[in-house]
Amino acid sequence: MNEKAVDLSPVRARFPALQETDADGRPFVFFDGPGGTQVPQDVIDAMANYFRTANANHGGYFATSRRNDEIIDQAREAMADFLNAPSPNEIVFGANMTTLTFSFSRAIGRLLKPGDEIIVTRLDHDANISPWLALEEQGVKIRWADFNPEDCRLNLDSLAGLITDRTRLIAVGYASNAVGTINPIGRIAALARDAGAWLWVDAVHYAPHGPIDVQTLGCDFLVCSAYKFFGPHVGVVWGRLDLLERLPAYKVRPAPGNPPHKFETGTLNHEGLAGVAAAVNYLAELGETYGPSAGLPPLDQYQGRRRSLKAAMHTIAAYERPLFADMLARIRQIPDITVYGITNPDQFDQRCPTLAFTHARFSPDHIARYLGDRGIFVWSGNYYALAVTERLGVEESGGMVRVGLAHYNTQEEIDRLVVALQEL
Ligand SMILES: Cc1ncc(COP(=O)(O)O)c(C=O)c1O
Repeated sequence: MNEKAVDLSPVRARFPALQETDADGRPFVFFDGPGGTQVPQDVIDAMANYFRTANANHGGYFATSRRNDEIIDQAREAMADFLNAPSPNEIVFGANMTTLTFSFSRAIGRLLKPGDEIIVTRLDHDANISPWLALEEQGVKIRWADFNPEDCRLNLDSLAGLITDRTRLIAVGYASNAVGTINPIGRIAALARDAGAWLWVDAVHYAPHGPIDVQTLGCDFLVCSAYKFFGPHVGVVWGRLDLLERLPAYKVRPAPGNPPHKFETGTLNHEGLAGVAAAVNYLAELGETYGPSAGLPPLDQYQGRRRSLKAAMHTIAAYERPLFADMLARIRQIPDITVYGITNPDQFDQRCPTLAFTHARFSPDHIARYLGDRGIFVWSGNYYALAVTERLGVEESGGMVRVGLAHYNTQEEIDRLVVALQEL
């Protein structure tokens, strides 16, 4: 795949929020993508159109209900394309990643016995830790894999050393929402497979930054959230069909007993699903417009969208990487600032464009407020990556400032951030 960076700045016009300004007429700078990205007009339109044309419950014998069901099917197909899943029936929707992970940990827990073991990592968001810790109540043992504080990379040897013949599941993030590290999921999947354990991957932070292919990764479950990749607040689980069939779901009696429906308790966020399909279509279009096209074989429409999505996510990664490299290099040079995570540009393919830093004189909250007052939106604290801030020894002092790039951010915005930090 050709990863030459292209100019993605025209896509900004498609995001209404990016046109907003503060009282002094300065455009808002959205570096809060890891907490939730902005949405293109297509997503807003799809959700509004849902209410105009398809607002009904599912399974009815009338027009709006049929349209509603088509939209749900389209959202499932879109997510299967986005993740390169073998079947849309492997896509489960829910409120958000956290709620889905609690519901699946409870279902998986029904198959576990006291003394069975689950491995979690200190690099993870707490939504991929607490749902597994909850199983300690029934005698499941939780083992913690560590990361190296120097570069915030998972220690794979330590992880491998935790595997025993009682290991039933490994829960790991695709990328850290605090320090950006991308974990080698393929290698961890091989470890899990050799141990006969399942691999649960939290791809929430990674999803807006690179292509995801659940078939190549070799994981058993992968979860993400559409509001982190330019869609609305909807959570998504992909699971291997045989496992989804096998897992017992907590459901009401009249609800279908087959996957994915048995895991979708109650009525879904139908308008949100219209937005999910639109967000995936937006990305596919981005891939068609800006992605590499040379040398690709002709494909039918269905494969075509998968190919376009892959191209889009490679294009996004190639656009974000040099921007991030520039931002990191300049912020590192500012006196009193300490940055965390991978800093070697040769290894930037192993990290997302998410920068966490501390300042020797100002607290993270102070800096976030200072920047917020200047129209630059960043996050401070632990962003629920509690194990990370504890391990780095920054939890007591207010965590870290987090600046997250998305493909709609520009060099000019980075310049504004750097100048503001220099003037602190
Ligand atoms: C890496 C990661 N995992 C999980 C979550 C939780 O996602 P949700 O808000 O969909 O529950 C987040 C949210 O910030 C996250 O960044």
